[in-house]
Amino acid sequence: MKSGLYLVIISISLCISCQPSSPDVKEDQNSDYYQEEHRPQIHFSPEANWMNDPNGMVYYEGEYHLFYQYYPDSTVWGPMHWGHAVSPNMIHWEHLPIALYPDSLGYIFSGSAVIDWENSSGLGDGNEPPMIAIFTHHDPEGERAGTETFQSQSIAYSHDRGRTWTKYSGNPVIKNPGIKDFRDPKVIWDEQRSQWLMVFAAYDRALFYTSPDLIEWTPSGEFGIPGDHRLWECPDIFPIEVEGTDETKWVLIASMQKNAPNGGTGTSYFVGDFDGRQFVGDPSEQRWLDYGTDDYAFVTWSDIPKTDGRRLGIGWMSNWQYALIVPTEQWRSAMTLPRELRLYQDDDGYTLRSLVVDELDEIRRQSEVIAQDVTYDSPTVIVSDIDDDAYELDIVFELPASGIIDIQLSNDQDEQLHIGYNVSEQGYYIDRTFAGRSDFHDAFADYHTGAASYPKELVKMKIIVDRASVELFADEGRCVMTDIYFATAPYTDISIVAESQDVTMIKGSYTALSRIWK
Ligand code: FRU
Repeated sequence: MKSGLYLVIISISLCISCQPSSPDVKEDQNSDYYQEEHRPQIHFSPEANWMNDPNGMVYYEGEYHLFYQYYPDSTVWGPMHWGHAVSPNMIHWEHLPIALYPDSLGYIFSGSAVIDWENSSGLGDGNEPPMIAIFTHHDPEGERAGTETFQSQSIAYSHDRGRTWTKYSGNPVIKNPGIKDFRDPKVIWDEQRSQWLMVFAAYDRALFYTSPDLIEWTPSGEFGIPGDHRLWECPDIFPIEVEGTDETKWVLIASMQKNAPNGGTGTSYFVGDFDGRQFVGDPSEQRWLDYGTDDYAFVTWSDIPKTDGRRLGIGWMSNWQYALIVPTEQWRSAMTLPRELRLYQDDDGYTLRSLVVDELDEIRRQSEVIAQDVTYDSPTVIVSDIDDDAYELDIVFELPASGIIDIQLSNDQDEQLHIGYNVSEQGYYIDRTFAGRSDFHDAFADYHTGAASYPKELVKMKIIVDRASVELFADEGRCVMTDIYFATAPYTDISIVAESQDVTMIKGSYTALSRIWK
C-alpha cells in the first residue's frame, strides 16, 4: 500500500490475517519503469512491443521459464520470435534476450519445451540434460504463395538453461501433409509407456504423435468435435488426479478461435483418458477454463517436480477480437496470473477449477477487514481512496433469494467496472460496459457471464484487480472470469450496489498487492 487505505467503517475493522508486511515493499517512487498508462503492475508483460501466447513453459533448476510469441519491432503482430523471461516463483520476472529468431524455414510460432532428462534426442552435450523447444515453423512465403503446407513442427535445443539455442539441423521434424492450420505442438513425457507424446492443432481438431527421441515422430490419433469446424489452437494434454481420490484422469486443453462463451477466442477443455495413442473422451462435453474474454492459449508448465505435484499454467490475457488495437502505447498484452489447476468430480461430472498460485503471497500485503456479517440495503462504499497498484478482494456473501450481488469499482471519471453474482441467471458476471475506453472495438464494452452450476449456500468471490485487468475466482475457482479494461483514471472506490434487495456480506477482506516491476 503506498499510503493509508481508508476503509469506510461498516463494522469491526481488524486485521484478519495479521500477516506481517513483506520487507521488500518499498517502491522506488522515482522510477517510471512499467508505469505507462494501463501498464499491468502484477502481471507479466513485455518491456516493449507485441506479445501473444505463452510458449515453452518449463521448470528447470529453480527457474520457471516463460517464452512467448513476440514481435520485437512493433506493437502489432508480425514475424514471430520467442521472447523469454524466467522467474523463481512465477510472480517476479527477469527479462532475458530473445530465445528464437525467425529463420529460413519461417517465423517461430507457438510451442512447448521439455527437459530431455535421459538425452533421448542425443542433442545433449554430455553435461546436463538438454532443454528442447518444440515449435511451429510458419513459412510466410508459402502462405503468400497460397500453399497449404506452410506450417510444420521443428525443434531447437539449449545446453545453458535456455539462455542460448541451436535449431536442429534436420528441421522440420514433422512435415506438413497438406493441412493449412497445422501448429502449436505441446510435448509431454508419457511415463507409463516411456514415450514422448505430442499434441498439436490441425484446423478443427487435435492430432497426436508419439516418439522415442523427440526427432522421429509417428502419427497416433486425433480428437475433435464432429461437425464443429472452429479453428483449434494451442492444445495441451496432461494427467491429473481427481481431488480427494487416487483416480487419475486426462485433460485435453483446446483454445478455440471463435464462439467462446462471451465471444471471440477462449480456452476450453475436455476430461477423459489417454489410451497410449490419443485422448479418448466425450466431444460433446466441452468445458471452459475461463468464462472471461481475456484468457487465451492457456497452457501448463512442463517438468514441475513431483515433490511439488501441482499442475500450473498461464494464459494470454487478451482476445484476438481486439488484441491488435487495445489502447496501450509501448507494448501490447499481458499474461494472466499463474494458476493451479485442480480436477474435482461432482454430479456434473469432472470439472477443473483454477486457483491463483500460492506464490501470490510474495506480494500480498497486510489484509484488512472490510466487513463481517453486514447487511446492505442501499448502495454503500466499502473501500475508498484506494491508491494501491493492485489488490485482492476476498468476499463471502449469503446466497440471496433473488436479485444480484454487485460489486462496483469506480473512479472520478464516472467509469465503473461491475463484478457480481446474478441469482436468476445462476451465474457470475463482469460488466465492463462503462469501465473506461472501449471505442477501439464494438464488442469490447459488454456484459460477460460465467456459468456457476456449482450448488451453493454462499457466494464466494476472490477478485484480483490490476490496473487494466480483473480476475474473478468464484466458488473456490469453479467459475473463473478474466477481463481486461482500460479505465482513464484509476478506480479509487469499491461499492456494494444493493438495489432491489438486501445482501449480507459474511466476511470481506482487502489485501493490497505490491507491484512486481522494480
Ligand atoms: C494463437 C496463435 C497460434 C499461433 C500463434 C502465432 O494465438 O494464433 O495458433 O502459433 O498465435 O503468433
